[in-house]
Amino acid sequence: MVGGNGLFYPILGFASCVTFIYLSFGDLMVNNEKEPKFGFVERNGTQFMLDGSAFYINGWNSYWLMDHAADEYTKPRVRAMLQAGAKMGLTVCRTWAFNDGAYNALQSSPGRFNEHVFKALDHVIAEARQHGVRLLLSLVNNLQAYGGKTQYVKWAWEEGIGLSASNDSFFFDPSIRSYFKTYIKVSPYLLLSLRRMV
Ligand SMILES: *[C@@H]1O[C@H](CO)[C@@H](O)[C@H](O)[C@H]1NC(C)=O
Ligand SMILES: *[C@@H]1O[C@H](CO)[C@@H](O)[C@H](O)[C@H]1NC(C)=O
Repeated sequence: MVGGNGLFYPILGFASCVTFIYLSFGDLMVNNEKEPKFGFVERNGTQFMLDGSAFYINGWNSYWLMDHAADEYTKPRVRAMLQAGAKMGLTVCRTWAFNDGAYNALQSSPGRFNEHVFKALDHVIAEARQHGVRLLLSLVNNLQAYGGKTQYVKWAWEEGIGLSASNDSFFFDPSIRSYFKTYIKVSPYLLLSLRRMV
C-alpha cells in the first residue's frame, strides 16, 4: 500500500507534466502535420537561401503592422496590406517588432512589456504566413517615432543613469546596453511566436 502510493504520485506527476507539455505545444505539433513547412531564409556567403535554393527578395516596408493590429478599428488593414503585397508578387515585408514607450508600446518602460501588443504581433505573423509573406522583424530604429534608440537614451537620462544625452550613447552606454539586452532576452517569446507559425 505504502509502496503503491510511493509509485502513484511520481506517475501522476509525470502524467500531469506530459499533459501540460501537450497542452502547451500540442497545437504546434498538430499544425506542423497539417500545414506545409514555411522555412526560414538563411544565408550562404552573399546569397540568401531558402530550402537549399537561392532566394531573391522582392519586398516592401510596412513598419506599422503591429501597431495597427493592436487596435480593433485598424486591425483589418494588416490583412488588406499583406493581401495587396502578395497579389503584387511581393514575398518579404519589413515591419517593426518593437515599439518603445509610445502609443501601443510593446515595451512601455525598460523591461516592461504589454501582452496585448505581443498578441498583435502574433496576429501580424499569422497573417503574413497565411499570405506566403516572410517578415523582416526590426528590433530598434534610428528615428524618434516608435521609440527606438532615442527612447532608450531618454529612459537612461530620466533615471539619472545615462552617461550622455547623445543618441549615439545607445551604442556605448552600459546602462542602455543592459536595457536593450533585457529586450533581446524577451526574444525567446518572439521566437516562440515565430515557431508557432513555421
Ligand atoms: C554555399 O556556397 C558555396 C559556394 O557557392 C557552395 O560550395 C556550398 O555548397 C554552399 N553551401 C550550401 C549549404 O548551400
Ligand atoms: C536624438 O534624435 C532625435 C530624433 O532624431 C532628435 O529629435 C534629438 O534632437 C536627438 N537628440 C540629440 C541630443 O541629438
